[in-house]
Amino acid sequence: MKHYSIAIDGPSGAGKSTIAKMVARHLNFIYVDTGAMYRALALYFLRNNISVADKEAIENACNYADVMIDYKDGEQQVILNGENVNSLIRTEEVGNMASASSVYPVVRLKLVELQRSMAKKADVVMDGREIGTFVLPEADLKIYLTASSKERARRRFIELKERGISADINEIEKDIIERDMRDMNREFAPLKQADDAILVDSSHMTVDEVKNTIIKYFEEIIQNSSKELG
Ligand code: DC
Repeated sequence: MKHYSIAIDGPSGAGKSTIAKMVARHLNFIYVDTGAMYRALALYFLRNNISVADKEAIENACNYADVMIDYKDGEQQVILNGENVNSLIRTEEVGNMASASSVYPVVRLKLVELQRSMAKKADVVMDGREIGTFVLPEADLKIYLTASSKERARRRFIELKERGISADINEIEKDIIERDMRDMNREFAPLKQADDAILVDSSHMTVDEVKNTIIKYFEEIIQNSSKELG
């Protein structure tokens, strides 16, 4: 049976997970948050005091860190060696470690296998950095979702403020630019727009506008494929 896949790639803070979740809910697809998988491995490295500069230690640790995905009430749960780590992986420290450790092919290949097997079994909306270029090159729809670094910093600042955390907006933007550079310039499967991906710049769009735009593109694809068949 054919399973559909929608790949949503883009830099940190572009709103990928919010949008991907909404699109998945609308279409009754499974949402696969690949960043959470990298974050779970990053948590393992941090807990075990593994330096990100120590390639051998990272490679070795990959043999002992088992990442699995489960769903509870429609929400993705990341299981690290049997422990649900969902509530522990959203810190800046874990995010930075995920960005730094994901440069290693051994880290990526371990998780890519899991991601591809999920897309084989269900209709998925998968978000990440290289889903359209590397993980699912045959995805039915590829979106490259971005926004200016200023706008992404502003959104992050508001989100932190709402959680009662004070932060410097310029520092946030600096961090975002740094992470973009690292994600875009790594040697193996860097963040970049696939040739056949549609660029959606959300800087001046509402969340609903972005969601509806993506759903419209997907519906067009379904219509065109049913015309070709019939
Ligand atoms: O999307 P996120 O912020 O949760 O991702 C954290 C880091 O994980 C990101 O900076 C780079 C890495 N990552 C990746 O390399 N490939 C993916 N498909 C998803 C995340």
